[in-house]
Amino acid sequence: MTTRKLLLLPGDGIGPEAMAEVRKIIAAMNEQLGAGFEVEEGLVGGSAYDAHGKAISDADMAKAQAADAVLFGAVGGPKWDSVPYDVRPEAGLLLLRKEMELFANLRPAICYPALAETSSLKRDVIEGLDILILRELTGGVYFGEPKEIIDLGNGQKRAIDTQVYDTFEIERIAGVAFELARTRRNHVTSMEKRNVMKSGVLWNEVVTATHKAKYSDVTLDHMLADAGGMQLVRQPKQFDVIVTDNLFGDMLSDVAAMLTGSLGMLPSASLGAPDPKTGSRKALYEPVHGSAPDIAGKGIANPIAMIASFAMCLRYSFNMVAEADRLEKAIAAVLDDGLRTGDLMSEGKTEVGTVAMGDAIVEKFRALSA
Ligand code: IPM
Ligand code: MG
Repeated sequence: MTTRKLLLLPGDGIGPEAMAEVRKIIAAMNEQLGAGFEVEEGLVGGSAYDAHGKAISDADMAKAQAADAVLFGAVGGPKWDSVPYDVRPEAGLLLLRKEMELFANLRPAICYPALAETSSLKRDVIEGLDILILRELTGGVYFGEPKEIIDLGNGQKRAIDTQVYDTFEIERIAGVAFELARTRRNHVTSMEKRNVMKSGVLWNEVVTATHKAKYSDVTLDHMLADAGGMQLVRQPKQFDVIVTDNLFGDMLSDVAAMLTGSLGMLPSASLGAPDPKTGSRKALYEPVHGSAPDIAGKGIANPIAMIASFAMCLRYSFNMVAEADRLEKAIAAVLDDGLRTGDLMSEGKTEVGTVAMGDAIVEKFRALSA
């Protein structure tokens, strides 16, 4: 029997509540389908800081490196606002991304028909939306050096972050964008700020050259990232794959969340390069929403982004495409039935908590798998 090694890092805030619902899906798949998932668990973020004084321990990092895939919940919260910068909860996530070399972050934004009402945008703008934001995840201003606050000695301080990209980093993310576009509607829009940033000039050049050399069958457009943000809310269906850097990708993917109805709906996959020998990639799957400390522990968080992240894991790490499709269908079916967590609530729908939403999805998934 195949064994599939998963590491679960529930983290802080609503992370553990959302992860508990995924655990039920994993159990159902092992029992009903003999999927052979072996689950280990670790600490990340504030919970790791409380236990080890670090945002992730070396032992948990080693487990992450050894797993076939990592499922990540969320990190952070006011409790850790005053811990030292280098061990703040977010540092655990950034370290995982960097050490596992997860340079490609896939953030699909799909508007489920049942949720077109929930968005702050008009129904016809978002109904049927299916776009993919591909965010570069291990470079740019998140990691560039120097990164510091220096005392100028005259009562002034100076803060420095460094936006830096090398050719190979842009080339490899562009390659992923074009490959993904070929499996979709064959259209890539690259976003940068070449009008003010040198990194934008190089980004534009390298994406263009990569396209010309290997992917000229794919349609490529360029957009300045600010205009791209505007177009994303004006006419989001014009896009297929958007490829952009770490910081613009962070912002644009939060904007895209509202196109789907709620931040509680957006899954993501962070992938490394394929291993030259085995073809398998390091991978981490996480919901785009954060730890939402304001609603943590109340049993009302939306577990769908976390469950949909597991569907991405089935698809990208285990090539279990039929199972991923079924899990996504189960989510859509539960929404069609009118079940809603608070963040998705609208008139005439049935409000449920985290556990009831998870149970309903597991039940649909089991029925679809029978
Ligand atoms: C995200 C988050 C993270 C980021 C935080 C938690 C460090 O906002 O994954 O989008 O900025 O990348
Ligand atoms: Mg973000």
